[in-house]
Amino acid sequence: MKTQIKLSMAVLAACFSFSAFAADAPKSMRGADVATPDAVASEKAYVGSRPGTTKPVARTFSTQPPVIPHSIENFSDINLEENACMDCHSAANFKKKNAPKIGDSHFVNRDGQKLDEASAARHNCVQCHVPQVDAPPLVESTFQGDQKPGAAPAKKAIKKN
Ligand code: HEC
Ligand code: HEC
Repeated sequence: MKTQIKLSMAVLAACFSFSAFAADAPKSMRGADVATPDAVASEKAYVGSRPGTTKPVARTFSTQPPVIPHSIENFSDINLEENACMDCHSAANFKKKNAPKIGDSHFVNRDGQKLDEASAARHNCVQCHVPQVDAPPLVESTFQGDQKPGAAPAKKAIKKN
């Protein structure tokens, strides 16, 4: 009998502490239970108009790949044969297209040797340079960049890249 009381008290205590735990259960910031399937994010169009009509976006730190300020809709894909970005940004074309030339660091290979042509490691421009979407930040941030729009990259950073 005594053990039975002890046992039911233990069960009661367990229930109690479990419900207390449930009341303090962490709340998901996403607003969905773990078991709820993720909602599909809405697809947003890239902002920015035709190249030549936009302004550079301020860089947040000196070695940041600048973001793409213009639209890249309707450009052909970057593949083995084509690279629409280079039609305007390559060393050969940038002057007549009035576009900024690809960064100096793009003419250096992984071993730090200078190249005449842009390094093949830089061919996939959009792996580092990203077009922009007008979306509010998910959480509040007070982060402030330390670079001015169009600021030249730090010389030291170029050597290191
Ligand atoms: C038709 C010419 C053209 C094409 C094609 C083009 N750009 Fe541009 N790009 C420009 C011009 C001009 C600017 C200067 C901003 C402006 O005038 O819109 C610029 C600005 C940029 C900048 C900002 C540089 C900085 O210092 O902030 C980046 C990064 C960039 N382009 C990357 C790309 C990438 C990546 C592609 C290919 C997906 C591409 N561009 C295709 C003409 C072009
Ligand atoms: C591995 C990452 C990476 C790739 C790939 C890459 N870039 Fe960059 N890019 C950077 C970084 C970092 C900078 C800033 C430092 C510098 O200027 O080198 C930069 C700078 C630039 C600038 C501004 C140059 C200036 O003088 O202000 C342009 C324009 C640019 N890149 C275009 C391109 C294009 C076009 C391609 C594809 C052919 C490309 N980049 C590929 C990382 C990359």
